[in-house]
Amino acid sequence: MRRDLLRSAFVLATCGVLCSPARGVAAEARPAGGAVVVREDFSGSGLPRQWRVVGGAWQVDGGRLVGGAGGGKGVVTFGAGLADFRFEARARVERRAGSGAWFGLGVDVPPTGAGRWTAGVVHTDGAGRPVSFGDGTSAAAPVPVGVAARGDVRLRVEVRGQRAVWFLDDRQVLMTHRSSAEAVDGLALVVGGATVSFDDVRVTRVASSAFQRADTPRVTVVAHRGASSLAPENTMAAQEVGRRSGAEFIENDVRLSRDRVPYLMHDATVDRTTDGTGNIGALSAAQIGALDAGSWFAPAFVGERVPTLAQQLADLRTRGGSLLLEIKQAAGIEDVKTMIDVVRAEKMTGRVLVQSFDPQHLRWARTLAPELPLGLLRDTLDADPVAVSEDLGLALYLPNGTALEARPQVVDDLHQAGIGVWVWTVDTPERWNRYDGYGVDGIISNRPAELVNWNNTPSGEGSTSGAPAPRTSP
Ligand code: G3P
Ligand code: CA
Repeated sequence: MRRDLLRSAFVLATCGVLCSPARGVAAEARPAGGAVVVREDFSGSGLPRQWRVVGGAWQVDGGRLVGGAGGGKGVVTFGAGLADFRFEARARVERRAGSGAWFGLGVDVPPTGAGRWTAGVVHTDGAGRPVSFGDGTSAAAPVPVGVAARGDVRLRVEVRGQRAVWFLDDRQVLMTHRSSAEAVDGLALVVGGATVSFDDVRVTRVASSAFQRADTPRVTVVAHRGASSLAPENTMAAQEVGRRSGAEFIENDVRLSRDRVPYLMHDATVDRTTDGTGNIGALSAAQIGALDAGSWFAPAFVGERVPTLAQQLADLRTRGGSLLLEIKQAAGIEDVKTMIDVVRAEKMTGRVLVQSFDPQHLRWARTLAPELPLGLLRDTLDADPVAVSEDLGLALYLPNGTALEARPQVVDDLHQAGIGVWVWTVDTPERWNRYDGYGVDGIISNRPAELVNWNNTPSGEGSTSGAPAPRTSP
């Protein structure tokens, strides 16, 4: 069953006048070219071969593909078997049937068009103005400043592995995940409540690197132990604040209880972050479950509990977000297996990245679950980070930010080898700028809300040097 991909159907709810435009969403250069697998400018008189109308009425008219669905949904499908690709098109509303016109791109849509939607959508209000962009059940994003109110808008989605990044007029507006690593079934153009015309449809293969920057100036924002500057670390409260801050990943620390239940706990003992004492590995799940993990931080968090890994993953699965899971302690492969079993039981292998300071933990994880991407944490740089990464089969190399300053060129070396670089734990705009200049792909921070805001500040626009312009604190 693949109904759980990326999300399901289009969201028809609009933000309306309450949605303010995103502040300073970064523009970006046009992406570099790759192997083009679909190029369609509708210069013929009919629908392209092997394109299939699934809903609504579609025709080629005036060099554009025009789809109308009245108050319903119109879908045309094409393509199949893609894994890592960029799908882009231009589109504009020609006639609205009512006030709720929408249109967009569909990803992983079978030729029948039945059910399995993974799509980005532009909504328009009664005046034909784009107001929001959404993918289904997650919150719609406001349309960035500068997106055309009339005429064509450019839609683009870039799919790498299980991660999709959506763009509107070359501005990143949404990032979504799907749980399946299989090639997508097909693509679609979709319309609703309007007659919409499309042109310049392109599908291009791109390199697969799910954790490197996807042709975007933004870094991946990772909330360290949740948003641990605002809520008690490694709690559900911290996770919720991290999510609402806009962090894509929550970082945690996992240790086993005496009875082998994986819990979130950074330290070996519960002393610092709960009202109890003792080594977590000496306490039972019942004992840990009774601890107060919030009162040490602030009175508002009294009663907060130490979450199990299962609780954390269930929350991420149902409410959104991905997990950077740190194996903090594992005496043997069985301990790692206990953690991975939980990830699998919660059906979250597509949204978990496993990290550790200990290469042996990663070797065990790779043996047990080769489908899980791996990251190596480093206090100091290895002599040859690429060799170490290739030996361990890493997706990510995660150096301490200060350590990276000794040899920032290793970022390029790792990128050349197809390995992403995320730095930790960085909480100031000065250092975000510095590491952004190095080209890191992700930043782990205790201050995810501020980092998201910094991330949305324009960079490089109008720069003639080719180097990223420094971003300033909001
Ligand atoms: O994710 C990196 C960071 O969490 C590693 O340090 O001590 O906070 O687990 P620590
Ligand atoms: Ca950690």
